[in-house]
Amino acid sequence: FEKILPGMIDLVLNSEFICTKPIPLLRRLKSASVSMSQHQASCLLANAFFCTFPSSNGHYFPEINFFGYFIYRRLSQSSKLHCIVNYFSRVVRQEAGDGVLTFTRQVLDDPPSIDFWKNSTSPLRDMLVSSEGLIEKDGEGMLQVDFANKYLGGGVLRTGCVQEEIRFITCPEAIVSCLLTECLLPNECLIIKGIETYSSFTGYAQSFRFHEDFVDCTPRDSWRRREKELVAIDALPFRKPADQFDENLILRELNKSYCGFMCTASNYLAPVATGKWGCGAFRGNPELKALIQLMSASECGRDMFFLTFGDANLAESLHHVHQLLVAHNKTVGE
Ligand SMILES: *[C@@H]1O[C@H](CO)[C@@H](O)[C@H](O)[C@H]1NC(C)=O
Ligand SMILES: *[C@@H]1O[C@H](CO)[C@@H](O)[C@H](O)[C@H]1NC(C)=O
Ligand SMILES: *[C@@H]1O[C@H](CO)[C@@H](O)[C@H](O)[C@H]1NC(C)=O
Repeated sequence: FEKILPGMIDLVLNSEFICTKPIPLLRRLKSASVSMSQHQASCLLANAFFCTFPSSNGHYFPEINFFGYFIYRRLSQSSKLHCIVNYFSRVVRQEAGDGVLTFTRQVLDDPPSIDFWKNSTSPLRDMLVSSEGLIEKDGEGMLQVDFANKYLGGGVLRTGCVQEEIRFITCPEAIVSCLLTECLLPNECLIIKGIETYSSFTGYAQSFRFHEDFVDCTPRDSWRRREKELVAIDALPFRKPADQFDENLILRELNKSYCGFMCTASNYLAPVATGKWGCGAFRGNPELKALIQLMSASECGRDMFFLTFGDANLAESLHHVHQLLVAHNKTVGE
């Protein structure tokens, strides 16, 4: 109340000097990028904290105002707030990042058809499987998958506290994407470059807890962005899990992951760090999701690092199946 809050209020009162132009939005069906300084992002987030933005109701944008934070009382929720306060404490002490962030909406105009996939002779790429570790920690230098909601951030500003929400709360600059990004369509993804991690944590969902302040030392690129690339792809939710084996729905997930893993501006094709994409509340089948992502990554020329979050049986069976496929020189099409 004596330092952090007044500092946040100053940021809001100085908004017009920090963000001197209207904020460009990333609308549906249009590939585009928005870059801003981390300082500008902190100003937008301070505004979100004080709920100064107009409501997004009915405009196909996620909510950016933080009021959802203040109305739910749960231990995991106060830990989320702790992460946010920790971020602003760094901002106010001028110990937050002073680099640049880039948000890129990538639209795949012409996804490969089902015949293209069936005919593909691309070899399967390497896949490393591990039952231990976290994408954000162990996927350093890789293209890190955000198991996204089509409304970016999912329940980050409400009670949600799973993969995407935890990522956004420990790297609060990612929350700016809620302000910029109109709801993702099936052939679209969002790539976030340059965000920093500010807090470390323990647990997951209801057991999520703030651990401590974290200083991110990831090197910066020539644009002064942290060399950290997050790709937000939203899996389909299945009411009846058997539905996901339908060819059209498999194609939808191929379109989406291919869009996410497709070569962007960078010429180095980093491996994809991913895992059980859409396999929680969305009821995706982990084996099928692993194969779909392996096909997309292979078609894009990327290796894959697959983390099963403690599921040792899945790790073993995926490793075994991958070895078998490679030993028999199976192609993506086969
Ligand atoms: C996926 O891509 C194919 C091929 O372009 C297209 O026919 C299909 O409609 C797409 N599916 C979805 C759900 O976007
Ligand atoms: C796939 O192969 C079939 C049969 O060889 C061919 O008719 C079709 O044009 C091919 N499709 C694509 C998209 O390459
Ligand atoms: C797979 O390809 C390698 C190299 O081209 C070859 O030596 C091997 O015999 C092939 N294995 C099978 C099962 O076809």
